[in-house]
Amino acid sequence: MIYSLHKQELKVGMYVIMPAKWKHHPFLRSKFLITSEKHLEAILESSIETVQVDSTKSQASQDFQSITHPQKTTKTDERKENSFRSPPEDWNPEKMMTKELREVIHNDSLSPQKKAIAVYKQSITILDNVFKNPTTAVINECKGAIAEVTDLILHDEETSQNLLRITSHDFYTYTHSVNVGILSIYLAKRLYHNTRDHNLHELGAGFFLHDLGKIRVAPEILNKPARLTETEMKHMRIHPFQSFKILEETNNLSKECRVICMQHHEREDGHGYPRRLKGNDIHDYARICSIADVFDALTAERSYKRSLSPFKALSIMKEEMLGFFHKEIFENFVLLFTQNQLH
Ligand SMILES: [Fe+2]
Repeated sequence: MIYSLHKQELKVGMYVIMPAKWKHHPFLRSKFLITSEKHLEAILESSIETVQVDSTKSQASQDFQSITHPQKTTKTDERKENSFRSPPEDWNPEKMMTKELREVIHNDSLSPQKKAIAVYKQSITILDNVFKNPTTAVINECKGAIAEVTDLILHDEETSQNLLRITSHDFYTYTHSVNVGILSIYLAKRLYHNTRDHNLHELGAGFFLHDLGKIRVAPEILNKPARLTETEMKHMRIHPFQSFKILEETNNLSKECRVICMQHHEREDGHGYPRRLKGNDIHDYARICSIADVFDALTAERSYKRSLSPFKALSIMKEEMLGFFHKEIFENFVLLFTQNQLH
């Protein structure tokens, strides 16, 4: 049987069939058995993203049944399998969220502005903790906390507008994750309000944890105080798949959350990564996350670039990057700022 696998899923002992002729990849033949880690490294270093694997010619120890194939699942299938019309029975944010965050969110004496600042700080602490220690228990606790923040964004308009205003412009992975999480939930609220077809409490975790795979990127690349070289970018581009893998390994977030992780760098025109998906092959939830992700990157301060104002960032996204984003979702994103006077 022939399987289509991302290069990150390959293992020693698999018989691979390259998608291109030998002159377009670093191997002498286009079909061969992976016999060493060096083979694997060479494939990872190459520009090839997906290869086919022949299970009949692979070594018998390979467990193909356990390999997931997100690229084989259609968007319709994913939605059918994951319709979150109601929370799962064991969903209990009261049990899972941190005591501090609970106190802040339910403190009615705080002004919307003070509550937003406190919730933002708590969220950053929680994300910082997950990035340092992404165990099943910690991710579960984080999921409960995010569900509560999501609830706040859905039901407390004044506080959530304040949350959008105070998003920090420094660029630490966990600050960025909180910003993208808040922006994405706010956009999803706009797109899906009045429907019960989307469980935003569940999706919130996917939005907040979309970059979790960066913990598997070398720190010297992740924290480099300058633009990345093309080689460094190649390493950085493993993070969507690694986010997907961590959530799969810890097995406590939905398939849709994992799709957000996997596809948040895909672009409508097919110029994204890791799979160069185009148009409707990209899930709407990932489209939401990608818009929030680019916006936050543009408005963030980095050592090699100044932060842009929200207005300037939206202008650049509209004029220079429009082919990257789903038109209607992007228009709704812009309206979040123009209608709420957030620029
Ligand atoms: Fe990312």
